[in-house]
Amino acid sequence: MEIQNYINGEWKEPSTGQFAPVINPATGETIAEVAMSGPNDIDEAVQAAKEAQRQWALVPAPKRAEILYKVGMLLKERKEQLARLLTMEMGKVIEEARGEVQEGIDMAFYMAGEGRRLFGDTTPSELKDKFAMSVRVPVGVVGIITPWNFPIAIATWKSFPAIVAGNAVVWKPAPETPIMAQELARIFEEAGLPPGVFHVVHGDGPTVGNALVEHPDVKVISFTGSNEVGRMIAEKCGRLLKKVSLEMGGKNAVIVMDDADLTLAVDGIIWSAFGTSGQRCTACSRVIVHERVKQELERRLLEAVKALKIGNGLDETVKVGPVIHEEALQKIDRYVRIGVEEGAKLLVGGYILREGDYARGFYYAPTIFTDVTPNMRIAREEIFGPVVSIMSVRSLDEAIAVNNSVDYGLSSAIFTRDVNRVFRAMRDLDTGIVYVNAGTTGAEIHLPFGGTKGTGNGHRDSGVAALDVFTEWRSIYVDFSGKLQRAQIDTDD
Ligand code: UN1
Repeated sequence: MEIQNYINGEWKEPSTGQFAPVINPATGETIAEVAMSGPNDIDEAVQAAKEAQRQWALVPAPKRAEILYKVGMLLKERKEQLARLLTMEMGKVIEEARGEVQEGIDMAFYMAGEGRRLFGDTTPSELKDKFAMSVRVPVGVVGIITPWNFPIAIATWKSFPAIVAGNAVVWKPAPETPIMAQELARIFEEAGLPPGVFHVVHGDGPTVGNALVEHPDVKVISFTGSNEVGRMIAEKCGRLLKKVSLEMGGKNAVIVMDDADLTLAVDGIIWSAFGTSGQRCTACSRVIVHERVKQELERRLLEAVKALKIGNGLDETVKVGPVIHEEALQKIDRYVRIGVEEGAKLLVGGYILREGDYARGFYYAPTIFTDVTPNMRIAREEIFGPVVSIMSVRSLDEAIAVNNSVDYGLSSAIFTRDVNRVFRAMRDLDTGIVYVNAGTTGAEIHLPFGGTKGTGNGHRDSGVAALDVFTEWRSIYVDFSGKLQRAQIDTDD
């Protein structure tokens, strides 16, 4: 199967004529070929998007939203089929793939509701017989760049608010996961989205991503991915005075206090550390445990890890799937070696699985380090794999300080039964998302999603906050006094 670009409502060969293989990470098999486009393809999509956007912005927002309702219905009808394709191209276990498609469904219905809200403000004027309001207006053509770890959910977080707000979208998905992109484009088409409002241009970051970022007619870039790439994009957008929303790495911690329900804490840690094989920006990669319960927690975690079945995510009994590719395996393994050299103690895992069926795919054994100290690289840098580091502390204050000591600020969690500790954690944990008695993953689509510090640049996906990325504010003053009234001057008349 050759996956083409979707430009102006048509499936088109890339101008380069080039394709690259798409590999099932569970089996190593090539399951498709994806277009590797060039800057010309981006230009063609942007020109068509610019044209289409003018008309799209004139369609009443509730009508625009009706298309999203249909998109939501189609996603729902195809949930199982999409989930299976998702597992095949990305590797996450089928149950999680279903959950990811569900995130898209939820986002479709939520953003469709925005078609009848898109609230602005009306506010009194300081002058007599004058009316003041602010309304959201679309920005025009929006460029979105998404990663392979949530190939459909993140695309919906960005494209649905953009589209309901009256923008046109040019999307560059990760080359590892083009099948989900193809499916989403088909669904938009079937739902009746006018040609030109949504485009998919496949290819790599340095060529296609860069052309999208630098295109003068693309007014906003919304990116989820690595810090390294995010920083590069922000620098370019800075020079071009382009609005840019970045969602990047995490080094998320679960804090386990001495009064915690340890059974619950273990469930939370295992799920958020090893779900999606640790390849979530929200994954738990640090456990900050009170010294009094450290040993017991370790014992229970070890037991739980040993019970995890690793394998092809299409098998319903498998709990941990492969990682995305060989390069990822090597990066994870490098970090594990670094941890060992730094003096951390390997409790379990720490190796690539190469035996039997594992040999063809990309599997890493779920790994736990203990006796980690907050200054070690494995406790500070994002590994993006099934590796978690345990650190012990003596108090809540110390736990919060360790949590906040990293350069990232996406998600954090605390397990405790003490309401005072809960409220202090809610106030003092410096992350965009805080969980109480739950792991670090599990964001719901109607709340803002994003983080502080190196995780982002102040914007949020999801929730109403997403609309801020894809709209401009227009403040409007209507003077019905029939005379010139000067603001700040004629206020006493
Ligand atoms: C991501 O890892 O980029 O909360 C997104 C979660 C998911 C989304 C993760 N709902 O983990």
